[in-house]
Amino acid sequence: MAIGTVAIQSTPSLLSAAGSKWSNEVKKSVSPNSFVNIALIGKGGMGTSDTNTSLSVDGVKLVGVCDLYDKRLKDAKAQWGNALFVTKDYKEILSRKDVDAVIIATPDHWHQLIAIEAMNAGKHVYCEKPVIHKLGEGKALIEAQKKSGVLFQTGSQGMASLGNRAARLLVQQGVIGAVNFVDGQFTAAPGRLNSFTAPDDASEETIWWERFLGNAPKIPFNPQHFFAWRNWKDYGTGIAGDLFVHVLSSIHYIMDAIGPEKVYTTGGIRYYTDGLRDTPDVMLGYFDYPDRNNLGAFTVQLGANYVDGVSKKWGSMDFRIVGSKGTLDVGWDNVVLKTMGDVDPRDLQVLEQLGQGMKSPEKVSSREYLFSVKEGYKGGHYDHHFNFIDGIRNNKPLTADVLFAVRTAAPALLSYESYLQDKAIKWDARNLKIMK
Ligand SMILES: NC(=O)c1ccc[n+]([C@@H]2O[C@H](COP(=O)([O-])OP(=O)(O)OC[C@H]3O[C@@H](n4cnc5c(N)ncnc54)[C@H](O)[C@@H]3O)[C@@H](O)[C@H]2O)c1
Repeated sequence: MAIGTVAIQSTPSLLSAAGSKWSNEVKKSVSPNSFVNIALIGKGGMGTSDTNTSLSVDGVKLVGVCDLYDKRLKDAKAQWGNALFVTKDYKEILSRKDVDAVIIATPDHWHQLIAIEAMNAGKHVYCEKPVIHKLGEGKALIEAQKKSGVLFQTGSQGMASLGNRAARLLVQQGVIGAVNFVDGQFTAAPGRLNSFTAPDDASEETIWWERFLGNAPKIPFNPQHFFAWRNWKDYGTGIAGDLFVHVLSSIHYIMDAIGPEKVYTTGGIRYYTDGLRDTPDVMLGYFDYPDRNNLGAFTVQLGANYVDGVSKKWGSMDFRIVGSKGTLDVGWDNVVLKTMGDVDPRDLQVLEQLGQGMKSPEKVSSREYLFSVKEGYKGGHYDHHFNFIDGIRNNKPLTADVLFAVRTAAPALLSYESYLQDKAIKWDARNLKIMK
């Protein structure tokens, strides 16, 4: 029997998860027969991946790319065609009439500002996570979306995957009982946080350094800061904003959660003591979530160790949800259900709502089932971009909208803040306020 309400469609589309006073009202639409013209701002690793995935959705055309480094603009033309408009100034992208939507994949400290300017210019926005760099930036972002009425989606693609959608259905069906605990662990072998060897051509001639700094403290040109920006809190948001936010987004989606009431995080720079970073390489974050919709009050434990090459429990973005009747190991492409009593197969019928993408449940025993995607499934990243483009084309609201984005970025930033301040922080998720 369902213990919560499930609102899911059988296509990749996800309906707006948590009702909000800031609900999306789409104003700027693209005719269903014309191309959706996108432009990329920030052509690094993720921007390139986002763009290629977006281009794999039918009817999407790339018309412009912005980056601060000459080489990346040259690469963009080599990759996507010489006719591409390229610039170092994102304002030139925003002033173009032929751009319907932008992908923002810059370092974190630029997300909110560019997103607000893009929305004010009437562009739909796909903004990488975390959409804010500081807690205080959230409200202005939400207001800008509300005022402009364009669509906004945050780049937490895992929540759009079939695995996450299956988990949402199973949890809300009550298959594992009331949820009490979520465990997610990120590990990586030494190397991921290594300092960066700057390319020979990296200089103030080829990189617009002043623009990179933006609202960060003014310092002389430093390629370590430009290329390994994640290592510095002036531009990045630590492991919490880089990785924890993915699991937090999935949890908010699966549980219809809006945020924790308390966050505590500890950790430190344990291995990378070369002075080339001010962010920790080991972080343990704890997040207490109140009950919502009778799905259970639960604690989330998220750990990250970038100096651990062997003790990985699950896939890199996978996590375990523990309930009073059983557990779900949730990945993007598969989910494992284990229960204390026999599973009632009628409860699994809820997964029919997912349509054709998943194989029939594989029964390991009466208390263990495996749910996995069929061969050829395009993956959560595709589904997430499909939802964005489909939303633009068909005036549909999005689940990972601006309010969802701020509500999931906030606990990640609070986690980093708790580490920095060395204390637990109480959070009013509804009003996006730290409690005294
Ligand atoms: N969704 C995911 O799974 C995922 C994965 C990796 C990264 N990300 C996010 O994507 C973003 C980019 O990360 P990355 O790993 O691609 O970094 P990256 O360093 O590879 O790319 C960032 C690019 O932005 C450019 N840039 C910096 N400031 C700019 C500005 N003001 N205007 C235009 N371009 C600017 C840089 O020149 C660089 O090419 C981050 O916010 C990160 O958190 C998301």
